Amino acid sequence: MAKTYSFVIEGGGAPSFHAGQFFNFVFEIDGQQLRRSYSISSPDTRSQSLSITVKRDPKGYVSNWLFDNMEVGRTISATGPLGQFHCADLPADAPLLLITAGSGITPAAAMMQALADRETSRSVIFIHYASRPDEMLFARDMKHWTSKLRHVQIIPIATRPPEYSGWVGPTGRVTQGQLAGLVPDISGCTVFCCGPTEFMQKVSDIASALGVPNENFRSESFGGSDSPTTNPSPHAQTGPMIEVGFSRSDTRSEVAPGQTILDAARTAGVHIQTSCRRGVCGTCRVRIEEGSVDIRHQGGISQREMDKGFALACCSLPLGKVIIRA
Ligand SMILES: Cc1cc2nc3c(=O)[nH]c(=O)nc-3n(C[C@H](O)[C@H](O)[C@H](O)COP(=O)(O)OP(=O)(O)OC[C@H]3O[C@@H](n4cnc5c(N)ncnc54)[C@H](O)[C@@H]3O)c2cc1C
Ligand code: FES
Repeated sequence: MAKTYSFVIEGGGAPSFHAGQFFNFVFEIDGQQLRRSYSISSPDTRSQSLSITVKRDPKGYVSNWLFDNMEVGRTISATGPLGQFHCADLPADAPLLLITAGSGITPAAAMMQALADRETSRSVIFIHYASRPDEMLFARDMKHWTSKLRHVQIIPIATRPPEYSGWVGPTGRVTQGQLAGLVPDISGCTVFCCGPTEFMQKVSDIASALGVPNENFRSESFGGSDSPTTNPSPHAQTGPMIEVGFSRSDTRSEVAPGQTILDAARTAGVHIQTSCRRGVCGTCRVRIEEGSVDIRHQGGISQREMDKGFALACCSLPLGKVIIRA
């Protein structure tokens, strides 16, 4: 189940962004500030407002709060736009393959709608996977894009359609054979992929096997509890283990040099909220009570926050013993 929320800038003015980018939102819930990233699901061609489309996570905090409490007139702070998941820097005739699964459709839907508004003549194939036809987000828009754009092919795929649904389209999870059949010229496309972590990994492997150069493969990760904690650090070093204490949980663990505060939290059984797991979204912000860390972020924290003693657990490496408020 998903809902779309639309925002205008307080005090007027048009938000400036490229279709496909995201904003970091700060929600004040029960006296706490909770940060979550949401891709803009509306096109940059109608930029008097911007929309986000949120899927309800039955065990999630913010998505449930939005579904149950968000009301017209409420003000929410946000920073952005952020991210490189857009085609504004590509030549206007570069062929695109948009390939998404589940709620990962949101940035691609914004890109498609912007291309439709601009009446693009570029070649675009948009493949979207959902488990059942009734879970297919933007289904009505897909019909609109198909009828409006001659060079655009929209291919919805239901991975597990129930028999009674009457689904006659393609079925099954992504495979190399399926993708090679649907996109014969895939090696000449710039690929935009967004969806669950395993899906993106699979598509990336297939695209590479089918000849898509790495620099032509762009992906957006929404994170998620089932994704790996963090990639093994590219900066892994040898050396003595480092102690990381967690003051609220009254526990501690040890990590090897090059591992993050989030790795230490996982080992200690301490839950820290995460989303992107790559220093972009700011969800995993923690306060450093003692010691210092090397924060290798990608825009998810400001200098001011770092000066106040905050860090991002997913991309901060302890430099000696540290104590974290968590
Ligand atoms: C760049 C980017 C763009 C995104 N765009 C979108 C978008 O367009 N649409 C969208 O719907 N989402 C999007 N997301 C995901 C979004 O930011 C949130 O992660 C998502 O809405 C879930 O937030 P939540 O607060 O509801 O869940 P959370 O409370 O963060 O929980 C998420 C999961 O963590 C687990 N969990 C929570 N608390 C605990 C605990 N104490 N112990 C163990 N496990 C726990 C639960 O299993 C739950 O399923 C995006 C993320 C990124 C990084
Ligand atoms: S989880 Fe996004 S910055 Fe750490």
